[in-house]
Amino acid sequence: MDEIEEIKIQKQYIEKVANLNENKNLKYTILTMGCQLNENDSEKICGMLEEMGYIKTEKIEEANLAIFNTCCVRENAEERLFGKIGELKNLKEKNNLIIAIGGCMMQEEHILDKIKKSFSYVDIVFGTHTLHKLPEDIFKVLESQKKIKDVIDIDGNVYEDLPIKRESKIQANVTIMYGCNNFCSYCIVPYVRGRERSRKPKDIIKEVRELASQGYKEIMLLGQNVNSYLRSEMEAIKQGTLKNEDGDYKEINSFAKLLREINKIDGIERIRFISPHPKDFTLDVIEAIADCEKVCKFVHLPLQSGSTNLLKVMNRKYTKEQYLELVEKMREKIPNIKFSTDIIVGFAGETEEDFEDTLDVVRKVNFEQVFMFIYSRRVGTPGDKMPNQIPEEIKHKRFDRLKELVEKQIAENNKEYIGTTQRILVEGKSKNNEKMLTGRTESNKVVVFEGDENLINSIIDIKIVEDHMWYFKGEI
Ligand code: 5AD
Ligand code: SF4
Repeated sequence: MDEIEEIKIQKQYIEKVANLNENKNLKYTILTMGCQLNENDSEKICGMLEEMGYIKTEKIEEANLAIFNTCCVRENAEERLFGKIGELKNLKEKNNLIIAIGGCMMQEEHILDKIKKSFSYVDIVFGTHTLHKLPEDIFKVLESQKKIKDVIDIDGNVYEDLPIKRESKIQANVTIMYGCNNFCSYCIVPYVRGRERSRKPKDIIKEVRELASQGYKEIMLLGQNVNSYLRSEMEAIKQGTLKNEDGDYKEINSFAKLLREINKIDGIERIRFISPHPKDFTLDVIEAIADCEKVCKFVHLPLQSGSTNLLKVMNRKYTKEQYLELVEKMREKIPNIKFSTDIIVGFAGETEEDFEDTLDVVRKVNFEQVFMFIYSRRVGTPGDKMPNQIPEEIKHKRFDRLKELVEKQIAENNKEYIGTTQRILVEGKSKNNEKMLTGRTESNKVVVFEGDENLINSIIDIKIVEDHMWYFKGEI
């Protein structure tokens, strides 16, 4: 069965469930863990559920259906999930609650075993490659009260045209590719999300055009490794295993070209993307960022470690010097470009000198934002099997040192914003103060200011007047 046929069938299941649920006023609740890709998956889950007649609630006690969309990139999530499922046992009995658990964690054997053993009352378990079949799974549970396990190990396909209920009316997430081929030695993602596969350019362009016509201003392009968009497909075409019959890849055959094409779409004013890999940051992508006025001059460039030795152990395929050269090259070609990054502290074998190298890169690049993580061993990855693990205490001490440096730099950088005029996309009313509006700069800094509600969803100039570390106060 092909993907289009499969989605047709799932739409029939959506209708069947909607018929069963008619006039019942059923509610669902969803908990999403992890990254923006998971959030985008959850938006699709919500889209399907609402077409099946379920209404969203934040209150688990009044829900008829509870969905967990899980992440397994770092620890803690497991205990948290098991705690949550445990809490649901009473509600399961009292309200006949249907419990469905999906996402990355469900692709791990030891988690599936644990659920089977300790939480046999869970109704549906679905993986990362079977999300689109949730309507069928729910229908089967409603009809026969059977337990469903719908997890497959092979790489999933790319399914288009699922219903979607987006969180924001201003910024939209658009997944452009699934999976990862990089196998960084600390990372579980390639094992739970499969090999890289990209959506067709025409499907992405169609989605972004629709978003523009719905009034969306900002697009976030998502993938585990966005700058290798279409690389596997191009390779397959070269080898003759993929046909380019419909000319799907004639005009757009790379990430750089995709950026240029999306940049032409009227109505869209800002384009962002996460995450690129430094090793795939080719000149054509740098030039596209420079040329495309809508592409934010703010790039998330995951460093992970500043030590060439450790980068090799991590299987990152670049050196400290190559990373710094890339930053320099981008600064040369893209005036005023700013960076954010991800850093892992305490990976196996990290010496004091390795860690100093990381601090050195942080000092040199002067990131606008650093997402810092303590290394967390993941079952099944090479990192977990390495003998020279770092004691927790050292990991935490290094983490604190890094944090201190980063916060000092952010404080310094913030001073430079004071008195400048920034272009802000106005997102809505401030959560902490109804009378104020909130928005973001191109470099993703939050700015709060007084203004009329009808400014929401427009880009305006704001003068930055006060620095509050994690946000600025501004004036129109
Ligand atoms: N431990 C800690 N951090 C990790 N990341 C990925 N795997 C791990 C792990 N095992 C971090 C990386 C990645 C971000 C999404 O999560 O920094 O870029
Ligand atoms: Fe994980 Fe590396 Fe792939 Fe990112 S590029 S998802 S860190 S394996």
